[in-house]
Amino acid sequence: MAVDLLLGLQWGDEGKGKIVDVLTRNYDIIARFQGGPNAGHTLEFDGIKHVLRTIPSGIFHPSAVNVIGNGVVIDPVVLVQELEGLEKFDIDYRSKLILSRKAHLILPTHRLLDAASEASKGKAKIGSTLKGIGPTYMDKTGRNGLRVGDLELDTFETRYRALAEKHETMIRHYEVDLEYDLPEMEAEFFNAVAKLRELTFIDSEAYLNDALKQDRKILAEGAQGSLLDIDFGTYPFVTSSNTTAAGACTGLGIGPNRIGEVYGIFKAYTTRVGSGPFPTELFDETGERMAKTGNEFGAVTGRPRRCGWLDLVALKYAVQVNGVTQLMMMKADVLSKFETLKVCTAYEYNGEVIEHMPFSIEKENVTPVYTELRGWDQDLTELTSADQLPQELQDYITFLEKHLDVPVKIVSVGPDRTQTIYR
Ligand code: GDP
Ligand code: IMO
Ligand code: MG
Repeated sequence: MAVDLLLGLQWGDEGKGKIVDVLTRNYDIIARFQGGPNAGHTLEFDGIKHVLRTIPSGIFHPSAVNVIGNGVVIDPVVLVQELEGLEKFDIDYRSKLILSRKAHLILPTHRLLDAASEASKGKAKIGSTLKGIGPTYMDKTGRNGLRVGDLELDTFETRYRALAEKHETMIRHYEVDLEYDLPEMEAEFFNAVAKLRELTFIDSEAYLNDALKQDRKILAEGAQGSLLDIDFGTYPFVTSSNTTAAGACTGLGIGPNRIGEVYGIFKAYTTRVGSGPFPTELFDETGERMAKTGNEFGAVTGRPRRCGWLDLVALKYAVQVNGVTQLMMMKADVLSKFETLKVCTAYEYNGEVIEHMPFSIEKENVTPVYTELRGWDQDLTELTSADQLPQELQDYITFLEKHLDVPVKIVSVGPDRTQTIYR
């Protein structure tokens, strides 16, 4: 039995939450492998919208086990808020959610360090979600971090104190104006920690490998997107984890030979939230229309998402670094009623036309080369099967498939679970 992966191929917010929820009925276990509460994964069914941050998107299904893997960074405060949100819906998370002992913890001072670092960068800021992600992964690789398993030890508070004090010195070093009440943040943190201790902590790598032996089906849920990957993204405007396929191996403790399908998910256009280069970004009413129709506001921070045409240079690169075997195209409904659609198939890069992702895609280096395709006039949101898709949309998809050499297996035509078309 293999582990299938579901990964975002753009700058995040592709619709991973929706599709993981849709696919969960085919799986026994859903496992998050990286990122933390910087993620906001939206699911919609029965007229209710849910946003998950750390909890895998399989939690609403009756039987699936949801694993928060070792590669994830957990903020107890946010996780407890998420759990409280689930209580309203009678979700028995105690039996369905398990945490890796090796997952690192986000401390209140990690959040402050994130804020101090961003403030010190001024205009060059990353546009971080300020959830403490960068500083927590820095402590992980710097070998200073605290992990879920440490909550089971008597030394936790002493070690917490030592690390928090070190962070306070670092925060002062930034010499930026930050207003905060650390004792209050810490009281909130320790309250949440007490609640977290009621959950099940496991050695998740052993659990997942045993599950594979028992032929249980596992879906690994990515967070963020390939262009935010720490190695392959638009560095330094990236997140601090490997969002690409290899991250699932290190973030769950499974061998590369156990990976089965790699589902790559993308929007029919492109969005980005936060700073950083975005060659196909639109600053006109077309971009505004995408943002409005697509309701493009960040699920975590509420910030407006920047919008632009589909970038096949970037998408091809993401397909390549992840070894994508099947594609899923989201938000096709948002492109309805555009007379002409543009797709970027190459970049003019320092006077040359190139089709691969160069070292830097900053505006001064890159001008997108577009191919124009015909749009469709029809509303898609009520469609239920692939043969109902308008011809122009089928042509759009065929164009992408030829370019990317991977089939598009799912077309999403609305936020609800049911608005999902299989090809
Ligand atoms: P994630 O982070 O990849 O899970 O994506 P987000 O939840 O942050 O953002 C995707 C947004 O698009 C959410 O508000 C979804 O409800 C919504 N969405 C997902 N699929 C579709 C779709 O096919 N059409 C429309 N209109 N909205 C969608
Ligand atoms: P999901 O899983 C979109 C962006 C931030 C910022 C950069 C670094 O919902 O797709 P960080 O908080 O990690 O230090 O921010 O990455 N970012 C996301 N953008 N979707 C996300 O997650 C994101 N997580 C982080 O906006 O530009
Ligand atoms: Mg999101």
